[in-house]
Amino acid sequence: MTEPIKQSEKVAVITGAGQGIGKAIAFHLAADGYTIVIADIREEVARATAAELEKQGFRAGVVRTDVTDPDSCENMIKGAVDQFGRVDTMVNSAGISKPGPSLDVLPADWQRMLNIQLNGTFYCCQSAGRQMVKQGWGGAIVNITSVTAQAAFPQRASYCTAKAGVDMLTKVLAIEWAQYKIRVNAVGPSHTETEMTKTLVAQGLYDVETVSKRIPMGRMASVDDIANGVSFLCSEKAGFITGQALYVDGGYLAYGYF
Ligand SMILES: NC(=O)c1ccc[n+]([C@@H]2O[C@H](COP(=O)([O-])OP(=O)(O)OC[C@H]3O[C@@H](n4cnc5c(N)ncnc54)[C@H](O)[C@@H]3O)[C@@H](O)[C@H]2O)c1
Repeated sequence: MTEPIKQSEKVAVITGAGQGIGKAIAFHLAADGYTIVIADIREEVARATAAELEKQGFRAGVVRTDVTDPDSCENMIKGAVDQFGRVDTMVNSAGISKPGPSLDVLPADWQRMLNIQLNGTFYCCQSAGRQMVKQGWGGAIVNITSVTAQAAFPQRASYCTAKAGVDMLTKVLAIEWAQYKIRVNAVGPSHTETEMTKTLVAQGLYDVETVSKRIPMGRMASVDDIANGVSFLCSEKAGFITGQALYVDGGYLAYGYF
């Protein structure tokens, strides 16, 4: 099937878009011409982001979504289609962070991390993929991973494991769904200024100056740095790119000296 309408009417569903990286992605994709569906577990925050988008003249909707629940992820895609008729792009940015010594991590905390970061990403990819296959003209999926998919961080066993899993999930879906013209890629941020990192700083779990020194470009990422990578991978410019992880990290992973 050929795509029936123009780029400006494409629809992007973004999880975790109530705040942080997901919210910045919403604004960048809106500027690229997408109608945006904010899918966040916190409905009031999602509604506030959608209202901000609409105030700036963009088209936006909200579907409250808990990515750990496969039915909720199906409902997210159904809600997007009911409101706007189609889904062209799915970005998985919902996430949490809960560092702690591996000797003490509780099974419930381990499972919650994997449920949100890894299982949730799979459920959303699956629901979006089914819709894209049904539509017949393909699509783009971008999963937000992390430099921790490649580099081990202490006290983050579940987080690193989940993100490494998302990197591999991205590759598997890419090769399975290439036949449907669905491209699946990942963007892996290094430390980025968001509520998530502000909380870690407040808990004394890391220090911005020390982190910035470890990054060759000398600073943490902004949410716009990350959203630019997502915007590129969703665009036609990335039309032959699939199964890749683009690390937006100021040189963090390349650095191997002292
Ligand atoms: N901030 C960083 O330094 C950094 C670095 C690398 C990767 N990441 C990843 O980027 C993504 C976004 O992180 P952020 O810093 O913007 O975080 P954030 O805490 O600012 O925002 C995360 C959003 O996800 C939502 N969310 C949480 N659980 C959910 C669920 N079960 N269902 C639906 N939504 C849910 C929250 O309500 C929130 O709006 C995460 O996957 C995170 O792991 C962040």
